Amino acid sequence: MISKPTIARIQDASRIEEVVSDFLTLKKRGINYIACCPFHNEKTPSFNVNPVRNIFKCFGCGKGGDSLSFVMEHEKLTYPEGLRYLAKKYNIEIEEDHNRDIEADKKLETERESLFVVNAYAQKYFSETLYNTNEGKSIGLSYFRERGLSDEIIQRFQLGYAPEGKTIFTDTALKEAYNLDYLVRAGLTIRIESEGNVENKEVKAKIYDRFAGRVMFPIHNITGRVLGFGGRALRKDVKAKYVNSPESEIYHKSNILYGMPFARNAISKGKNCYLVEGYMDVLSMHQSGIENVVASSGTSLTIEQIRLIKRYSDNITIMYDGDPAGIKASFRGIDMILEEGLNVRVVLFPEGEDPDSYARKHSESELRDFINENTTDFIRFKTKIYFDEAKNDPIKKAELIGELAKSIALIEDIPKLSQFVKECSTIMNIDEQSLYSQVNKERGKHIKNLQIEQLRSKINKVASNADESERQQIEENIEKIEREIEWKKRDIQRLEDTLVTASDTLTSEYHEKEMIRLMLLYGNHELEMQTESENPEAVAEVQKIKVAQYIYEHLLVDKISFEHENYKKIYDEYSAFIEAGEPFSLEHFIHHQNPDISNMAIDLTTFPYTVSDWLAKHGIPVPKEEDTLKTTVEYAIYSLKIRQIMKMITETQKQLQEATSDEDIFILIAQQKKLDAAKLLFSKELGGRVVLR
Ligand code: UTP
Ligand code: MN
Repeated sequence: MISKPTIARIQDASRIEEVVSDFLTLKKRGINYIACCPFHNEKTPSFNVNPVRNIFKCFGCGKGGDSLSFVMEHEKLTYPEGLRYLAKKYNIEIEEDHNRDIEADKKLETERESLFVVNAYAQKYFSETLYNTNEGKSIGLSYFRERGLSDEIIQRFQLGYAPEGKTIFTDTALKEAYNLDYLVRAGLTIRIESEGNVENKEVKAKIYDRFAGRVMFPIHNITGRVLGFGGRALRKDVKAKYVNSPESEIYHKSNILYGMPFARNAISKGKNCYLVEGYMDVLSMHQSGIENVVASSGTSLTIEQIRLIKRYSDNITIMYDGDPAGIKASFRGIDMILEEGLNVRVVLFPEGEDPDSYARKHSESELRDFINENTTDFIRFKTKIYFDEAKNDPIKKAELIGELAKSIALIEDIPKLSQFVKECSTIMNIDEQSLYSQVNKERGKHIKNLQIEQLRSKINKVASNADESERQQIEENIEKIEREIEWKKRDIQRLEDTLVTASDTLTSEYHEKEMIRLMLLYGNHELEMQTESENPEAVAEVQKIKVAQYIYEHLLVDKISFEHENYKKIYDEYSAFIEAGEPFSLEHFIHHQNPDISNMAIDLTTFPYTVSDWLAKHGIPVPKEEDTLKTTVEYAIYSLKIRQIMKMITETQKQLQEATSDEDIFILIAQQKKLDAAKLLFSKELGGRVVLR
């Protein structure tokens, strides 16, 4: 046990702002400091550090305390570990109480702690094997030397070597009294149960080392404790180049970045974090003096990893080698980074080179120059990848613009967004306004998804506080809402699918039915439409238009007609009202003399169920169709237009097959191209004002 006077000394020495700033980038705010809270997810800082009172407090999640509670919470340390951590930081010698109960102490050690302990042992074992055994020196160390790693880097990153042989490591660890269960749970030892003859009752477990004959890369948490390992094979004929520790209570690969404890200071100082793919890339960059670098190590980048970086800097520069898989991977990463509100840039290495191979072939200054000259913002990056193939192909170009619009739409900071719109429209040679409108549509979709998520979590919150009978009622309602949400999603999906499956759309009556339903139910409702202006920065004006009128105008311009007899009848009668300028009434159709029509009108306007307003009573707004009417109407128009295009495409194809003169073929091909482009525009615009010609 740590003695009382030692504890007091540690607490006196600890300065909250110093302790916290080892993990977070603090900004001065008056006499206090602020940062984004590491204990909950937030975008605007509400985590306060008060140096005078020597405490921290988060006004977002409510967590607060002193230096010790901060490191305990943040690093998931036990009380004595927290004290040891601070003692080390402030160079305080620890005095132990002499009446220490070793057995009780051991029991107190948490499971997690035991995993840390076996990992620490393994790390030491592998390092010693690397430097102090013949096998380690002749195989492991000479491999690292061949790859140009200095002793300094090998030691800083605690690299090691696991000896060849089935159970050498495990046997040694067991001899040193380490617990087999923990070795297995840390993933160092593999145990296969019940391999033997079951009748024999003597069921033998087989045991062997996970890592053997490999060079070892320990993976550290932010304070430098070992969570797991990556082991690289030395021979080429091995199945897996790298074997990694499995997930365990302490090792979750999705929220770890390789190299973080060695990079974090440089990341906050350099105000940028380089993100590379592999262990070797991190090591080579360090050796070249670039220390603000971490690796996602074989997993595709996760939100947790991005948030980890965000504690230190708002800027990420992704480094990828030039192969198509790497580039594709980077696109997803880019969008996630933008969504977290960070700035993202990209360095593309020549095909076949990664930061490690480049660093080894060039001097330090050449590497730095290369990075500086080849860092581009993400628009330029995506553009560079696609431009050559897209510039002469309108369809590909439209596709690329759609891609870029999606990424830009994720940026929350509006001035930044405008700057990217400007840049993108210049490079792609398209007008700013149409790009703005695509970006806005993407934003709309994005925001809708967020709203659905928020709704879900609100419902869950209310449900968790309710009593048994209430809960049942809520659950029934949740099911209905979830079904509705799913239904909407599937609907959107179906519309998108119509792009590929023409035949499906041609035969389905679904879209016509939906259109008639909307006209009957909401024909007199007014939609607010923004007028489009030549000037992209002009404030849009709002204009009101009735749903029926809006649909009518769209279908008229594109000469869309209904195919199914009864829907066509309703639509034609409806149009007559509109053309005559007469108000429409649902009653007219419900009491129609044609029983088919009256039945249909009743069917379409009666809901199979009503979502109870029970939820509304509890303050949960249930989304009504009226609230999202505009989108629903636009989707409906879109789906009819898409069907029309598909019909025209099929028709053109038929004509193409029958055409004989060169001139006919030429005209038909041109028409086909146009239709393809229109089809594509639709998929991007999803219900936008596109006119077919
Ligand atoms: P690379 O194949 O680029 O490895 O995979 P590398 O780091 O450049 O290694 P060298 O240069 O061939 O020695 C990138 C990362 O993907 C993970 C590792 O983390 C690796 O560093 N990986 C790769 C695996 O986990 N398993 C594998 O089989 C391969
Ligand atoms: Mn490599």
